Amino acid sequence: MADAATPKRGCRNAADRGLLKLLEVPFPSAPAPLSAPAPFVKWAGGKRQLLGLLCARAPARFGRYYEPFVGGGAMLFALRPERACVSDANAQLVNCYRQLKEDAKAVAAAIQTLDAVPCSRERYLALRSRYNGKLEAGELDCEGAALFIWLNRHCFNGLYRVNGKGLFNVPWNGRTQGPSASAERLAATGGWLKAADVELGCGDFEQACEAVEAGDFVYFDPPYVPVSQTARFTSYARQGFAQADQERLAALFARLDARGAKLLLSNSDAPLVRRLYRGWRIEAVDAKRAICSDASKRTGREIIVANFASFA
Ligand SMILES: C[S@@+](CC[C@H](N)C(=O)[O-])C[C@H]1O[C@@H](n2cnc3c(N)ncnc32)[C@H](O)[C@@H]1O
Repeated sequence: MADAATPKRGCRNAADRGLLKLLEVPFPSAPAPLSAPAPFVKWAGGKRQLLGLLCARAPARFGRYYEPFVGGGAMLFALRPERACVSDANAQLVNCYRQLKEDAKAVAAAIQTLDAVPCSRERYLALRSRYNGKLEAGELDCEGAALFIWLNRHCFNGLYRVNGKGLFNVPWNGRTQGPSASAERLAATGGWLKAADVELGCGDFEQACEAVEAGDFVYFDPPYVPVSQTARFTSYARQGFAQADQERLAALFARLDARGAKLLLSNSDAPLVRRLYRGWRIEAVDAKRAICSDASKRTGREIIVANFASFA
């Protein structure tokens, strides 16, 4: 819950959402207090910049919250719903959520062990290859979660990109020391995941939405349709996210609407997206693309689609 000193920080109640809607302001950039659950990785396509707008558009009341492309979970941790079912195709990312939910102290201790030795190019490559060994073996454990978070802090721009063999291949960002995570923040995040009984799934978005019922709220934040060839970033997973996946998602959107669920979706303002969601409520917004290495190019129009009247 947002505290009194930071009234616009959280989006948990209708008053917060009403205020944000009225002001139409982006989410404040001040960091959440360490005692609050929050994203534990910087994630490509992370929704920090759009969070204020998205929270303001979330329905005031809903059953279960679904987020089938959860990534770093910016929206999940801002809304902090009472019942949630979140999922992602990235098994090692979902493993981080699971390990934090199970034993955040153990994850924090494993990260501290990794941080105890200053980083160098050789150390980065050694730990990256240790992590890739876990990918190849399909090992999902506490050390894997620690490596995932450590690599996220030590790789270029916090990118998660895999090669044709499915191995993580992002280069070192030159960071040599400093904590990769706050133990207090990890404890708060793990504690909340446990207390709210957030169900964690791993797999494709269609499967993740099988149990959606009337009155549930689903937020979709898929890999974006590239607005240009250079802006392309869909390599979160070996299989990427092709136009056929965007079409599958639009078809799912229509099916869940017919089921009576409340749906919100963000994507780039690309002709394909406008075509796929023609007929639904579409709003174009300006957003900064934090993952772009050239700060001057970190702008772009994005689209928010809804099937309910949460905004004009
Ligand atoms: C734009 S990111 C989501 C970012 C997230 N909203 C955040 O705040 O960090 C898209 C996510 O979709 C996941 N993904 C890619 N293909 C998927 C699929 N077929 N099914 C489910 N998740 C998928 C990626 O692993 C990535 O985490």
